[in-house]
Amino acid sequence: MVIMTTASSHSFEPVLARIAEEIERTPGRGRPADYIPALAACDPRRFGMAVAELDGTVYGVGDWREPFSTQSITKVFTLALDLAREGDALWEHVGREPSGNPFNSLVQLEYENGIPRNPFINAGALVVTDRLQTRSSDASGELLAFLRAESGNPALDFDQDVAASESAHGDRNAALAHFMASYGNIDNPVPVLLDQYFRQCSVMASCADLALAIGFLARHGIRADGDRLLSQSQAKQVNAVMLTCGTYDAAGDFAYRVGLPGKSGVGGGIIAVVPGRCTLCVWSPGLDERGNSVAGVAALDRFTTLTGLSVF
Ligand code: DON
Repeated sequence: MVIMTTASSHSFEPVLARIAEEIERTPGRGRPADYIPALAACDPRRFGMAVAELDGTVYGVGDWREPFSTQSITKVFTLALDLAREGDALWEHVGREPSGNPFNSLVQLEYENGIPRNPFINAGALVVTDRLQTRSSDASGELLAFLRAESGNPALDFDQDVAASESAHGDRNAALAHFMASYGNIDNPVPVLLDQYFRQCSVMASCADLALAIGFLARHGIRADGDRLLSQSQAKQVNAVMLTCGTYDAAGDFAYRVGLPGKSGVGGGIIAVVPGRCTLCVWSPGLDERGNSVAGVAALDRFTTLTGLSVF
């Protein structure tokens, strides 16, 4: 059950209020993604942040209940859903090393025989969605059902305009998928896979929804209803890949500043996990040149500094 707290009831409230105040005073928020026209209109001054405890208690500040475009944040959930179904066989099709390259890069794929470096660059996420599609026959539907269940919010949905907009500008993802198919690393017809992937990226959810939905990674693989999704070891593995690969070619800097497993999306959201303690989601649509939210990274940096909650 999701419990919304009142302003004075917990020590996370003052920390969140202080971070929001500091962010408000900070100039320079980066620029919203413009390669997906439906995202370009977002106001970079929007800011929200939520912290969820393991029991589903959630605290927030600013625009923490405002739905935004989740984009690449969904890559964590499809990875977890596919790992739960097929286990280690997945790792024969996608690696788990940082790429050091932009999220939509093609360059490593040919040298590495169509096996993407990790599940969080676009090529790797396409492989994961393809494998989940083979196993579930509706990868994006399975993702949406999972997000609704874990967040306790049955209203979560796809944004058809964002999916259509991305499909209309999807040449690079199509190139990645066709290239990997030429190496035999994609099972489904590329148009089917791309449709699933663009729907997946278009899910709208708030900071509160996502902080709750990622709770299973802080509970070592246990879902909100007490059922196990991942083994303790698999939950550790997903957290480790988030730490090393979740913010693309800025993963080193993110680990240095924030010290938590985290995953960003070009909608301006970032989720982060404090294993055994709590989960976070922050949203602000202005991005840096590597595609990570400027205010989002700054807010998580301040959170771990002020609370001492990090994995290090
Ligand atoms: O594949 C794409 O281009 C997007 N739908 C998702 C990219 C994304 O969020 C990468 N994030 N930083």
